[in-house]
Amino acid sequence: MNAASFTKEEINPLHSIEQWEDDVLERYPEADAPAKAKEEFRNYDNPGRDTVREFYRLNHQYQTYDFVMEKRKDFLQFNRKKLKVWEAMEFLNTLVDDSDPDIELDQLQHLLQTAEAIRADGHPDWFILTGFIHDMGKVLCLFGEPQWAVVGDTFPVGCAHSDKIVYPEFFSANPDSKDERYNTKYGVYEHGCGLDNVHMSWGHDEYLYQIVKDYMPEPSLYMIRYHSFYSQHRENAYDHLLNDHDRKMFDWVRKFNPYDLYSKSPKPPVVSELKSYYEDLIAKYLPEEVCL
Ligand SMILES: [Fe+2]
Ligand SMILES: [Fe+2]
Repeated sequence: MNAASFTKEEINPLHSIEQWEDDVLERYPEADAPAKAKEEFRNYDNPGRDTVREFYRLNHQYQTYDFVMEKRKDFLQFNRKKLKVWEAMEFLNTLVDDSDPDIELDQLQHLLQTAEAIRADGHPDWFILTGFIHDMGKVLCLFGEPQWAVVGDTFPVGCAHSDKIVYPEFFSANPDSKDERYNTKYGVYEHGCGLDNVHMSWGHDEYLYQIVKDYMPEPSLYMIRYHSFYSQHRENAYDHLLNDHDRKMFDWVRKFNPYDLYSKSPKPPVVSELKSYYEDLIAKYLPEEVCL
């Protein structure tokens, strides 16, 4: 099943991929968000909700074990582009959609705000760099991939879908849910087998992890690889697959999540003032060029 098998509406159900993140923010509002804002978050009459619903319908239907294997086989060849890391960020920033440019921050601004919030809290430099690169895998969109195969909450494939995943009812259309190899609690996995042995639904998290896995410290790799795995880092729904090491490392995933969700400020960071600082961080940890 390749992108060509999907209609234009099925490839891009959202007006912009930020709509998914806005929806996550509605599901997990900041603890001290003003009460009124929380009420607005729960406004299910919001027409934006229908597009998000449709996005999850497609995501839950098509992200099967076989789909993930196919995407890994294709994208993990890294035969599309070779770029310097900063160039890859600029490439990512060519991702424009029909959202309102006056209120939406572009990709680079989201990454800089995330990283700057981590920096302001005095965290180590590799943590700051993690904030800066964590969504670089969204370049998948620029290779024509459907939005639901780039963003969206990720979840294990090859075992039963948790009802803690948003819109769980849509999994009934996923062929894996009727396949007895995949529809039991453990499916193809074993108790405590460790997440390194578990295949996640395909998206920007796993893709970037595979690009940087030899270069960043382990806590950073967990943050990159599992930052969209909300049903675990927020809901603990797959604890039976984690080993003790995963459990320890998920403290980092949880530490990262608020920077991703709550660092949005209407004042955009000034790229020209920050570029040399981030270029130095990139040079310290990452290779000259990365293959996408
Ligand atoms: Fe992300
Ligand atoms: Fe993000």
